[in-house]
Amino acid sequence: MRNLIDILDFSVEEIDELIAVANDIIDDPEKYRDVCHGKILGTLFFEPSTRTRLSFTSAMMSLGGQVLGFDNAASSSTSKGETVQDTVRMVSAYTDIIAMRHPKEGAPIAASRVATVPIINAGDGGHFHPTQTMTDLITIKRKFGRLDNLTVGICGDLKYGRTVHSLIAAMSRYENVKFVLIAPDELALPDYVKDEFLAKDTSSYVEIKSLEEAIPSLDILYMTRVQEERFHDKAQYEKLKDSYILNLSKLKFAKPTLSILHPLPRVNEINVDVDDDPRAHYFEQAANGRYIRMAIILKLLGTKGIEDRRNDGLEDDTLECRNPHCLTLTERGIKKLFKDGKCIYCDQTAHKK
Ligand code: NCD
Repeated sequence: MRNLIDILDFSVEEIDELIAVANDIIDDPEKYRDVCHGKILGTLFFEPSTRTRLSFTSAMMSLGGQVLGFDNAASSSTSKGETVQDTVRMVSAYTDIIAMRHPKEGAPIAASRVATVPIINAGDGGHFHPTQTMTDLITIKRKFGRLDNLTVGICGDLKYGRTVHSLIAAMSRYENVKFVLIAPDELALPDYVKDEFLAKDTSSYVEIKSLEEAIPSLDILYMTRVQEERFHDKAQYEKLKDSYILNLSKLKFAKPTLSILHPLPRVNEINVDVDDDPRAHYFEQAANGRYIRMAIILKLLGTKGIEDRRNDGLEDDTLECRNPHCLTLTERGIKKLFKDGKCIYCDQTAHKK
C-alpha cells in the first residue's frame, strides 16, 4: 500500500504521469465518471480548510465515489480525548482511502503506521502539504510546458508555510531551478528544508528581503499568507503580517510571462487589483486542485501490494524530539522513532536527553 505523506513519495516520473492523467481528466471528464464507483474517501480535517477538503470531496464525487468525514476536530472524538492513531484505525475500517489534515507535524506518518488504507497528507502543521504542491506543479507545467529551468520566487512566510516546504522539495529535483527566497529574517526557511532540499547541485537559491528587487528576474512568483495560527506570540504576528503586499505598481518591472501563484486563502498579501492581470493564475491553480486530486486518488487506490517507501526509523532511548509542533509530544502511546539523528515524524533534528 502506498501513502502520500511528502512529495518525495512520488518519483519525478510519477509526477509527470499524474499530471498527464489530470490533463486527460480535464479534456475528457466523462471517461472517469464511474471509475471509483463503490469506493469511499474519508476526509479527516482536524484543522480548517476550504479548497483542499472541498476539492478532495469534489474529486471523489467526480470519480463516482462517495465521501465521509469531519471538517473540524470539535465534531470528532478528538474532543473526547481520542488519539489520532485510534481515530484513524476506526476510519480505516469505514473507508478505502483517507485524506487528513492536522495541526501537528507528523500526524499523517503516525496515521499511516496504523491505517489499513492509503493515507494522503492534506497538510500537517507547518511541515508539508504535498497535494497542494501537485496543484502547483500542474499549474506550472500547463503554463510553461516544463518544470525545469525556471526562476521561482517564494515570498512571505517561508518558516511556517507548509506549501513552501513541499514546493521546494518537489522543484529542487528538476535541473536548473533557481529559488529566490523573499522573507524577513523571522520568517526565513527552516534549516531542515534548506539542508535536505537546497544543498543539491541541480538547484540554487538566494535569500533577499525586497520583493521589488526580486520581481524582474522571476518566472514564477509564489505568494503566501503569514500563518497566523502557528504563532505563539500574537504581537510578533501583528508585526510581520503585512511584510509583503503585491500590487500592480510592484509588477511594473515583472516579465510579461510571469506566473503569479498563491495556494490561497489570501489575506492581503495580494491586492485585489492584481486579480485581473493576465499574469495572476491563483484561481486557475485552485481549480486544477480538483483534477490533480482525482489523479492522486486513482493512483493510490491502484497501488495495493506496493510497499510504502518510508523506512521506519528506530526507537532510541537516548534521543528526544523537542519540536513543540510535533505530534509525538502530545499523542499518547506513540512510538518515538528516529533516523539519521532526526525525528521521523517532523524531520527536525533530535536532541540528546
Ligand atoms: C494552504 C494550507 O493550508 O497550508 N492552503 C491550502 O491548502 N490551499 C495555505 C494557507 O493556509 O495559507
